[in-house]
Amino acid sequence: MAKSRVQFICQACGNVTSRWAGKCEACGEWNTLVEEGTAGGIGSGPASMRSTRKGRAVVLTSLSGEIEDAPRIASGISELDRATGGGFVRGSALLVGGDPGIGKSTLLTQAAAALARQGHRIVYVSGEEAVAQIRLRAQRLGVANSSVELAAETNVEDILATIADGKRPDLVILDSIQTLWTDAAESAPGTVTQVRAAAQTLIRYAKSTGAAIVLVGHVTKEGQIAGPRVVEHMVDAVLYFEGEGGHHYRILRTVKNRFGPTDEIGVFEMSDKGLREVSNPSELFLGERHAAAPGAAVFAGIEGTRPVLVEIQALVAPTSLGTPRRAVVGWDGARLAMVLAVLEAHCGVRFGTHDVYLNVAGGYRISEPAADLAVAAALVSSLTGLALPADCVYFGEISLSGAIRPVAHAQQRLKEAEKLGFGQAVLPRGSEELGNGTGAASFQPATLTDLVVRIAGSLRRDADD
Ligand code: TYD
Ligand code: MG
Repeated sequence: MAKSRVQFICQACGNVTSRWAGKCEACGEWNTLVEEGTAGGIGSGPASMRSTRKGRAVVLTSLSGEIEDAPRIASGISELDRATGGGFVRGSALLVGGDPGIGKSTLLTQAAAALARQGHRIVYVSGEEAVAQIRLRAQRLGVANSSVELAAETNVEDILATIADGKRPDLVILDSIQTLWTDAAESAPGTVTQVRAAAQTLIRYAKSTGAAIVLVGHVTKEGQIAGPRVVEHMVDAVLYFEGEGGHHYRILRTVKNRFGPTDEIGVFEMSDKGLREVSNPSELFLGERHAAAPGAAVFAGIEGTRPVLVEIQALVAPTSLGTPRRAVVGWDGARLAMVLAVLEAHCGVRFGTHDVYLNVAGGYRISEPAADLAVAAALVSSLTGLALPADCVYFGEISLSGAIRPVAHAQQRLKEAEKLGFGQAVLPRGSEELGNGTGAASFQPATLTDLVVRIAGSLRRDADD
């Protein structure tokens, strides 16, 4: 028998060290190292593997061949099916991560009920809530009479023995992976070793039986409980459920998908009767718009294959502080600093004595650099007090030299803008072939200065009229 040794495992990234330290040397997180025994730990297989067992021959097979069942089961909730790439894949494991309270259990309860209604056998195992709590949620969602089979259990072996009874389930939902534990590992539930070992056992079950499994994982800020990151590489697909506190919009983002595209999003709205699908996100994000206010610019963005129009709001106000404030919600702070620097250095627009606040409407988060141009337009508009045309969209990346660089999918962005009644667009030169409609009324500045001159010039034009 190998001697059981003590080792320290980072609960954030899974790095193993032999000595404890305050900071993980691999990922730099503080206070994440936890002592775990090596028996059943990472790197070692099941205990029986250590004996000198002779290998068993498996049957090799060919790539072509019969596939019995439809490989995917679509829930009919189209925003969810879009994010999974067309439905849950049989024999695969899907991880749904997100902050506690964001709506993961709600989403999966609704999906489970929708699938059960189609005649699939669905098992929902909760390690967090009692059966009564889950029933209450189901009542609230109006799905209490569906045939979803329910259990409150946390031991993986017990769960597998339970679902082995009767017909093989089509989908098993395990809520959440952090509460599960298996006899094969000795660490406490919630540690990296337990979470990985439990996930491994369940994934093996999925692959061998052809049932689809969904693992729910809470994102943890503190490293005391292992987060969904540590199982990301083991599962076939990873979805993150996101949203801003105080807003009702929730975005289901595909981070990894072995069977589909990875840049898709599904958009939902949390209501008092559960999650409602939002099939046209642009209308939602533009819904509360006051057209003629200075400091607002509409950005034509792309999420996955879908264009999303969203309003960017800037407020530039004289400061009373020595160091002016820069506050950003929904965008990258470093990117804002860059756009401000380019405006100052190349366009002569000064923000040194002003506080700058930037907000993306509707609690949405933008990660595309293509938003630079819309941000710059909103900033200049707020500083000068000149409202931008209400029917104009903006997109384009700004380089440090002040040049405006082309971005991908110009055609698609313009089409969406046109569909929603926008008549003008400000976009980079050299974008792909432009069609009719919005493209005809487009302004294509070569540098940021051209755009600043145009916005400032609107004052003069108004005076001339
Ligand atoms: P839940 O699905 O329990 O979150 P998670 O599983 O990600 O921790 O959802 C919790 C929140 O959703 C809770 O704050 C209440 C809210 N909610 C609604 O607003 N409407 C509803 O119909 C339901 C079921 C929940
Ligand atoms: Mg939950």
